[in-house]
Amino acid sequence: MSLGNLFAVLPDEAQTPVGAEVLRGLTAKPRSLSPWLFYDEHGSRLFEQITELPEYYLTRTERDLFAAYAPAILATAAQDSHLTLIELGAGTASKTGLLLRAALNQQPQLTYRAIDVSASALNAARQTLSESFPTLSIETRVGDYTDGLGDLPSRKSPNSRRLVLYIGSSIGNFDPDDARELLARIRRQLAPGDCILLGVDHVKPLAPLLAAYNDAAGVTAAFNRNILTRINRELGANFHPDRFQHRALFNAAHSRIEMYLVSTRTQQVSIPALDLDLDFAPGETIHTENSYKFTPESATALLAAGGFTVTHSWTDPQHWFGVYLATTI
Ligand code: AVI
Repeated sequence: MSLGNLFAVLPDEAQTPVGAEVLRGLTAKPRSLSPWLFYDEHGSRLFEQITELPEYYLTRTERDLFAAYAPAILATAAQDSHLTLIELGAGTASKTGLLLRAALNQQPQLTYRAIDVSASALNAARQTLSESFPTLSIETRVGDYTDGLGDLPSRKSPNSRRLVLYIGSSIGNFDPDDARELLARIRRQLAPGDCILLGVDHVKPLAPLLAAYNDAAGVTAAFNRNILTRINRELGANFHPDRFQHRALFNAAHSRIEMYLVSTRTQQVSIPALDLDLDFAPGETIHTENSYKFTPESATALLAAGGFTVTHSWTDPQHWFGVYLATTI
């Protein structure tokens, strides 16, 4: 059968992004699902809760870095030129205010463009930022930045630069080849002198690393299982999320946290929209996420592979998180 005929017999839902990913991932051996499936409305709310957990040091540490170093970061990025800020995956832009304040102290006029897949998050960002910074010019774009950055704000003058903010360790959820390709795609849309600010989580002792992904309150477990609830709702499946256990471990060889859902028993699941019946054995896993952890050297090498040169970096006293400023030349 030709590939064309094969697709012709698949149900329509298999052609939607969610359907296609679920079909690919759950028929693969070992099974996997892409982490972008976490972020439906409920999943996005659970992620916001994760960022406030005592064990989840990432958000807090990066915010502390911005609180301490935002003026230095913005001055180093600007080098006396006029900056335009573009944030990828901005969400509600909760940490960005610290950077915007520093930029506005440096230059009276500032354009900030926020790109995110969630229109509601962008509306919330616009609301809070316009109250805090009445002179800020805010542009929002709903979309998936991995498809490209769209029409970037052009450089206002030869003495202006664009600073892309890609913070929150989001790059860590891409496998190395995809991360490099994403950075290279961003690089291709920038001009000499433009820069990127990349926030990455660092390799660290095992205990805090594992605790961050196995929190005592079970929010990360709920976040992980929500992927099954989403498949139930959107594809009519009959997963029992409570029959899958949350597992997060550190894979030292790949320098990444891996998250899984583990079937607690023999069970059958059907996904009518995909015409699919699945058999799970006890202990069988669905791999739902990788979260890569970097050293200063591996972060610098990744940026270099994407076409950027690190000029400065900032870290906390424990070296748990790093913020890297890199330019296109
Ligand atoms: C969004 N991303 C950086 C988070 C991370 O830490 O990799 C997603 C996450 N997964 C479990 N907890 C948080």
